[in-house]
Amino acid sequence: MSSVGRQQVSPRGDFHGMIGRSPAMKALYERVCRIARAAGPVLISGESGVGKELITRALHEESDRASGPLVPVNCAGIPAELLESELFGHACGAFTGAQRARSGLFAAAHGGTLLLDEIGELPAGMQAKLLRALQDGRVRPVGANIERTVDVRVVAATNRNLEREVVRKTFREDLFYRLSTFKLRIPPLRQRGEDLTLLAEYFTRHFSAKLSREIAGVGDDALSLLRRYPFPGNVRELASMMEQAVAFCRGKWIAPADLPEELHGAQAGVAPDGLGADLRETDSLPTLRAMQLRYINHVLDQVQGNKRLAAAILGIGRRTLYRYLQD
Ligand SMILES: Nc1ncnc2c1ncn2[C@@H]1O[C@H](COP(=O)(O)OP(=O)(O)OP(=O)(O)O)[C@@H](O)[C@H]1O
Ligand SMILES: [Mg+2]
Repeated sequence: MSSVGRQQVSPRGDFHGMIGRSPAMKALYERVCRIARAAGPVLISGESGVGKELITRALHEESDRASGPLVPVNCAGIPAELLESELFGHACGAFTGAQRARSGLFAAAHGGTLLLDEIGELPAGMQAKLLRALQDGRVRPVGANIERTVDVRVVAATNRNLEREVVRKTFREDLFYRLSTFKLRIPPLRQRGEDLTLLAEYFTRHFSAKLSREIAGVGDDALSLLRRYPFPGNVRELASMMEQAVAFCRGKWIAPADLPEELHGAQAGVAPDGLGADLRETDSLPTLRAMQLRYINHVLDQVQGNKRLAAAILGIGRRTLYRYLQD
């Protein structure tokens, strides 16, 4: 049994409650442990549902701030006009309704970790203010004339490609570099090999216990269906699928019929028939553009036109897929 950080990695690959022992995840755990001991900001990226929040928790628990607070803030969930006072606090009477002074979430995370979730959604004005706070290590509550020093480790998480947002000028370059002193990229579930089986078994046990069902595990046919599906919603999607499957299961093992409809059409990673045939005809070589379109259409056929799934299989965003189809 190997050990990563303060916790033992169990034979099931657990790390601070996370399931998974694929080489990619083990490398990630090691990196979390090393980064946890440093002080600079951390930028966590990865598709929706890959475990960005769980990794933040692990990072916090591995750090010497573990006994301090971990405060998550969803930057997309707070109206732009309230964000500044939520983060930095406000003085009494700073604005209508501010009857009492409030210290804000930076202050609440003093001595611990502040998770700025969905950082890509931060409005431009707040980006400038956050940059200043990170540079100075101080925050100024709205309407106050003195600044307050805070000792906070900032972790930012996003499922966007922030580098691309920087190029498009929707995210400040200076803030991006400030936030990404350390970077953690969480791989999508479809790149984690056998972790899928471990997680499917784990969620089956978890929901069977919760629903007082006696299900032995996931049957082989159901497992091979799961393996063919690209899981655009990653671990969160798998968890809800297994919750449904446990509820529907009438036998001892989870069967294909217990799994949702969209799984039955998925053919992830299957090479399209005859796609390479033209390449042997040296006098009629198709253009890259024509091949691209043909492959996109092939994938769309495989998933019955489901664009979300097709984009996940193709490894591009949904908007990019629409662009390819329109061009
Ligand atoms: N490796 C794992 N082992 C067990 N449960 C996991 C694992 N990864 C994720 N989960 C579970 O999947 C769900 C999604 O995880 P989490 O909220 O950390 O994802 P996220 O990357 O923050 O997603 P989003 O981008 O939508 O905010 C949670 O219920 C979490 O407990
Ligand atoms: Mg999250």
